Formats: sequence, C-alpha cells, structure tokens
Amino acid sequence: MKVLIADGVSQMAVDILKDEFECDVRDKLPADELLAIIPDYDALIVRSASKVTAEVIAAAKNLKIIGRAGVGVDNIDVAAATDKGIIVINSPGGNTIAATEHTCAMMMAMARHIPIANETLQKGEWNRKKYTGVELKGKTLGVIGMGRIGSGVAKRALAFDMKVIGYDPYINEERCKDMGVTVGTFDEVVEKSDFITVHMPLTDTTRDMINKDVMARMKKGVRLVNCARGGIINEADLREAVLSGQVAGAAVDVFTSEPIPADHPLLGVPGIYVTPHLGASTVEAQIGVAVDVAQGIKAALNGEPVMTA
Ligand code: MLT
Repeated sequence: MKVLIADGVSQMAVDILKDEFECDVRDKLPADELLAIIPDYDALIVRSASKVTAEVIAAAKNLKIIGRAGVGVDNIDVAAATDKGIIVINSPGGNTIAATEHTCAMMMAMARHIPIANETLQKGEWNRKKYTGVELKGKTLGVIGMGRIGSGVAKRALAFDMKVIGYDPYINEERCKDMGVTVGTFDEVVEKSDFITVHMPLTDTTRDMINKDVMARMKKGVRLVNCARGGIINEADLREAVLSGQVAGAAVDVFTSEPIPADHPLLGVPGIYVTPHLGASTVEAQIGVAVDVAQGIKAALNGEPVMTA
C-alpha cells in the first residue's frame, strides 16, 4: 500500500512506515497536484498546509485513512471523508507543550516589546524608555478554552504570580480549583482580564468569538494572544481595537488564511506582534506528531482499531 506524506512532516513518519508501505514524501504540494495524484494512495499524512477538500476526497479512489500531524483538523473535510468511509486521525498530544510554550513566549514578548526592541536595536537605536513594558505579576490572565494547551498556559501563568480565570463550556471545575484557576463565564473573562488568550478550535461557534463588541467590553489596555486558530479573534476588529488603544497589544500566531500577504491587516500595526504559525514548530513536537500519526496509519492499514479525530 502507498502512503503520501505531505507538508514537511518529520522523517520519523517515514521511518515508522517504510518497512511495510511505500512512502512518497512531498513538501509544498500544490492543490491541483494533490488532486491529480491522490487516486494512487491508500493513506495521506498532512500538517495544516494541504487542504483535504471534498474534491480531493472524491478523487481519492483508494484512500483509507487521513492522518493529521497536529491537532486541528479544520484543513480536512472530515464529513466528506466519513461519508466515504475514510478514517481521519490526528495527534492530539504531540504538540501540546510546544503550543503552550509558544503562547507564553508570545505573551511575554508582547508584554516587554521584545520583538520591536530587538529589531530597532539591530538598526542601532537604543530605546530604553520607549519600550517600557508591563509585568505579569498580579495581572489577571483570562484563558478561553481550558483544554490541554489552555490548562498548560494557566499553570505557567500561575508560576509567574498571575491570577488566572478560565472559561470553557466543558470546564472541569474540580481540576481548575485544584490548579488555582478561578472558573468564570465568558463575560467574566472578557470583562476582568488584563491579558486574554484563546485556546479553542475554530468552529461556527468560535469564529469571531472575539469581535469588536466583545473587545469594547474588555478593560481598556487589555492584551490579547491567539496561538489557537485564525478567525477566533476577528482580524479587522483587532486591528481597529489596537489602533484605537482599546487593546494595548496583541500576539498572533495564526490567521484566517495562511500564509498571509504583506498587506494583511495585522501587519504594520505598532503593538501587534506576529509569528508565522510556529505554535507546533519545535523539534520535539514535530517528532511527536509524526510518530503518533504514523503509528495510527500503520495500525489502521493493518486493520487494527484507531482513535479517530
Ligand atoms: C495544530 O493544529 O496542531 C497546530 O496548529 C500546528 C500545525 O498546524 O501544524
């Protein structure tokens, strides 16, 4: 059987599969090429770049399983795959630490203006006063989405002596209490926090969850972090809120459409710091997700049960 490994997934996936299956590794596969070659394959492994649309699934004559080396399956038409009897698996745990640590790094870099201070000093500008930051200690961090990553961020924020208030429709109140996290409603998190970080999947419910009306209800000078999915915080509204000073800063790793163009609304705005979807980009996480997904593919192609996404 043949496995197509796209999107620069770690070599570890090939190492696990190559003895039993023919593996083709392709990076930056254009959409039309994926559509053209997919009929040859029994399994497909992707990160987030390849879009496994209903059209790709319809063209896939032999496909039995799609493996997402990562968490979010929003680049895969899961309903179309399921209708065709194609299994979709992901790696829910492999990049948790990477995404957690990136969120904390973004929050701290934003609080202390590290990216712009570095950029200007590299040009010879010594700006100590201009880049006066704020401390995390004593500030309230609102965590929207208290799953693996949200809880990990909360735990680390508590170590910095932040107060943490968490909201999640499926919250485990006992666990939050044990951690020292106050459980709040969405409105409480919005209204009481000095920093807010979102950790939800992108769904019809979470799209634009943080929009201009919600931002207007936040404390003036709030700082926002999105290392989850583009679109949870409305991009145009965020730009306006930062320009108006209602939001003092934003740290954004994910965008509604990626890669972003040079004229994207979140670029060129003082106070908005961006990274190109690096949340899961650590050596350890890329090995973790590749191993998880390759083991799942191997099991499924051998007829063993697997956990679907
Ligand atoms: C994920 O969903 O796992 C992350 O966003 C990382 C990625 O897309 O590779």
